[in-house]
Amino acid sequence: MTGSSERMMNSETSPDLPEKIPTHIAIIMDGNGRWALSRGLPRLAGHRAGTENLRRVIEACVEFGIRYLTIYAFSTENWGRPQEEVQGLLRILEDVIDKELQELHEQGVQLHHIGRLDRLNPVLREKVIQAVEFTRENTRLVLNVAFNYGGRDEIVCAIQRIIEDGVRPDDVTDDLVNRYLFTAGVPDPDLIIRTSGELRGSNFLIWQGAYSEWYFTPTYWPDFGRDELLKAVHEFAHRERRYGGVQPANQGIAENAG
Ligand code: FPP
Repeated sequence: MTGSSERMMNSETSPDLPEKIPTHIAIIMDGNGRWALSRGLPRLAGHRAGTENLRRVIEACVEFGIRYLTIYAFSTENWGRPQEEVQGLLRILEDVIDKELQELHEQGVQLHHIGRLDRLNPVLREKVIQAVEFTRENTRLVLNVAFNYGGRDEIVCAIQRIIEDGVRPDDVTDDLVNRYLFTAGVPDPDLIIRTSGELRGSNFLIWQGAYSEWYFTPTYWPDFGRDELLKAVHEFAHRERRYGGVQPANQGIAENAG
């Protein structure tokens, strides 16, 4: 899906929120390793702290009325990390499902997975499918967990299925491609946040993020809590989104300039 989906909030019900808030926030949760190393801890301790923080950020999204949150939990490139770290991240996904699913359900969170499930072991794969099924009626917040996800892989996968379905070239449109992506039915992210000071997109939502606003912060992910999220939402409220067009106030200048 494309186009603006940001919403106007009633500032009386949420006093510290700006009026314009993003409908969909996506986050590259970066800096867990450095957070751990700076404390003399193993990298996995950083991922565990990052998971704790995820809980805080989900709660904040529910509080702020954000409707979609997409998190980059494991990329198609992350398989190249040391085996111990890869196994640790797989275990974290399993732990979250085993221990947190009920609470997420009670908060009204609808869980989705984006990416490929095929490299996960059959037990974990089934747990993910069951968790998605268990929460499918929830409507407060859609949480897209990008696990074994890559933006290019997603587009390759979409092209393969478009060809398999025998779609005629003239029928391939933006809308049609959207329907073949892992995110089918989800509005494009209004705001993409990357923590830890890195200034890259890293193969995350490369189609869907075409017109997203980006927010970068040096804060490591485990320290990016409610107040940091609120700061990002305020910054977003001041951005002017033009989608390649011109603001009405500047139209005369643009026309004169040809
Ligand atoms: C990037 O930080 C982070 C990851 C590759 C993993 C993110 C995972 C979590 C926060 C856990 C939540 C997971 C699930 C499944 C719900 P990094 O390790 O690259 O940090 P660095 O750049 O400082 O080394």
